Amino acid sequence: MFYELTIVVPTLNEVGNIELLCNKIARALKEISWEIIFVDDNSTDGTKELLTHISNKHEHVSAIHRTDRKGLSSACIEGMLASKAPIVAVMDADLQHDEGLLPLMLAEFSTTSLDIAVASRFAAGAELGAFSAKRALLSNIGNFLSRLVIKVQLTDPLSGFFMLRTDVLKRLSQRLYGKGFKILLDIFASSNKPLNFVEVPLKFSTRHSGESKLDGTIALEFVGLLCHKLFGKIIPLRFILFCLVGLTGVGVHLMVLSSFHLFINTEFVWSQTIATYTAMTSNYFLNNSFTYRDKKLQGKRLIIGLLTFYLVCSAAAVLNVAFANLLYQSNIHWVIAGTAGAFIGAVLNYGLSSMFTWRKSKHI
Ligand code: GDD
Ligand code: MN
Repeated sequence: MFYELTIVVPTLNEVGNIELLCNKIARALKEISWEIIFVDDNSTDGTKELLTHISNKHEHVSAIHRTDRKGLSSACIEGMLASKAPIVAVMDADLQHDEGLLPLMLAEFSTTSLDIAVASRFAAGAELGAFSAKRALLSNIGNFLSRLVIKVQLTDPLSGFFMLRTDVLKRLSQRLYGKGFKILLDIFASSNKPLNFVEVPLKFSTRHSGESKLDGTIALEFVGLLCHKLFGKIIPLRFILFCLVGLTGVGVHLMVLSSFHLFINTEFVWSQTIATYTAMTSNYFLNNSFTYRDKKLQGKRLIIGLLTFYLVCSAAAVLNVAFANLLYQSNIHWVIAGTAGAFIGAVLNYGLSSMFTWRKSKHI
């Protein structure tokens, strides 16, 4: 049987959604020959049995049953690799993704030489629906960090709804990280040439039945993906130097804080402010002399650089605190939440300061 399109649907406890999803897809894709591949991670709510039942009844529905929870990304990859069609889509089982977009996305492939079409929650014309403020913040932080990694102007690199050419997926499958939730980011970051993409605005709905599986552990896995894609197997020397300078900053901070607070008796909030800016300033000059000695700023640019560095550090600090707090509220131990926040802060500080402060590139 020849299929034009495979729809891969990862499932984990989605028993209340599957039949409705199949019906909706069938209605949306009347003119097209399609198959659905469900990839289930040992659901315990009857999803497994239901999938066996439906796939026995319908030739164009199949299910891959895995025995452990191996995660969303790897489920999507396994499903996509099993596709028999030239084009493959990934969508959630919970009806948050509008199946009506499937024919529109597929049509894009016939008119242009496209690699991938992404349904975006943030493109012009899209709607977020009843997305909680916490989820929206998490998405925005994630999107911002993702753009540091993939340098592609995608409005929603974390979308879970997209369609791509199967041969493109097969070409880059060896390089995929494969862990965690963020398969789309992984695909863009793993391609050795820029992917030709379009975005389609998505009206994001609320989950039909069951609950979201996104939790603190998944947010931590996202940090893992960022590290992997930013640094690969070797961490750049510049980042190590940047972190070492950061550590000296902690020392400077504590020295200044204790001098002002203990010996000069300055109010704590002022002592802390003075200490913070002294540490930032000392970090700036040390980075300028060591970490970025090949791009050393001088004269007027030394002052402008310092001001941008203050801004960059402040932005990184806000994100660090917001991210750590989100993890902490998802019951992640405070030491891990704090360290992950500090790490994200350091990566962001590093990424932004190389973009805005020491941006003129001369080769070493
Ligand atoms: N096989 C398998 N294994 N499936 C999983 C797993 C897993 O470990 N975790 C989640 N799923 C399935 C769910 O059953 C659902 O069909 C889909 O993956 C998405 O999971 P949700 O729990 O509904 O995630 P979400 O709605 O919070 O976030 C999703 O949508 C966002 C917006 O499109 C994800 O796709 C995000 O990556 C995406 O940003
Ligand atoms: Mn969902």
